[in-house]
Amino acid sequence: MAPAPYVASRTTSTQVFKPDIFAGKVLFCTGGGSGICRAMTEAMMRHGCKSAIVGRKIDRLTKAAQELTETTGQPCIPAQADVRDPKALAQAVKTTVEKFGRIDFVICGAAGNFLAPISGLSENAFRTVMEIDTMGTYNTIKATIMHVRKAKGAYVHVSATLHHNGTPFQAHVSAAKAGVDALSAVLAVEEGPHGVRSNVIAPGPIGGTEGMDRLSVRGSDSKQRSMMVPAGRMGDVEDIANAAVFFFSDAASYITGQVLLVDGGWEHLRTMSLPYPEAVLDPESVRKYIKPRM
Ligand code: COA
Repeated sequence: MAPAPYVASRTTSTQVFKPDIFAGKVLFCTGGGSGICRAMTEAMMRHGCKSAIVGRKIDRLTKAAQELTETTGQPCIPAQADVRDPKALAQAVKTTVEKFGRIDFVICGAAGNFLAPISGLSENAFRTVMEIDTMGTYNTIKATIMHVRKAKGAYVHVSATLHHNGTPFQAHVSAAKAGVDALSAVLAVEEGPHGVRSNVIAPGPIGGTEGMDRLSVRGSDSKQRSMMVPAGRMGDVEDIANAAVFFFSDAASYITGQVLLVDGGWEHLRTMSLPYPEAVLDPESVRKYIKPRM
């Protein structure tokens, strides 16, 4: 019988990095009102960063900003803007700089998604996701770059792994996230000489997020899904937050233009045809499938 698979531990960034590594720094995070982006903001604040969270719904933002301030002891302001609207973003940047005096770090995280086949995807539906994810990233870069240059800061963009394969029902998001990856690479090259770094985090399946709720099949067996991850469990928002803290920290000062998959190794299992993880934990159990050498 196969032994029980290992399950990766859960660790918060404060157990690894010093609590003051971002003291005096300011983060501008689109999509920061909820989910992965809110968790990344909270982690940055736990290390001394002040923050502005940007989104469309002011009520949700205001509540999140209050909670983040209470939890971390650092100030957080809500800044209402749709990332599709460059004027609103410019105002959000102005508000942030008036309040905190600078912007060091930017997370381009606002995104939209739903499942739909190309044949059922209207022109407006495709355009909407392109405008939120790709144009939204471009608009956020344009609105913040001069401040980030001045601070010799860094960007983290939230992408996905969908576009590494032909993921069905995700044409719009796949095209949009491929654009995000490309923008980050160009940003790294163009802005490197100005002292700015740019990297991408590509989350795998992350439990308890709006994205996962929207995209996973209702009633699907999450235990079964966890088994299909080499790290032995689904990801959670803290896993993504830890990666963001690393990317923004000086420990990553020589890392730019990269895409980091935070997926527990899931990407590499897409071609696995033998039962997993039983096949690696108990190779005898799959001996019948393996042809002997001639
Ligand atoms: N299937 C097919 N088309 C859909 C759709 C679905 N499930 N949901 C929206 N659309 C289409 C709409 O029908 C519309 O196209 P149409 O004018 O041809 O009918 C188009 O997409 C725009 O929809 P609308 O609701 O007007 O856009 P919005 O700006 O209010 O919302 C979305 C943006 C569509 C991305 C919406 O899903 C959203 O706000 N999501 C919240 C954020 C999110 O997705 N988070 C998860 C991140 S992983």
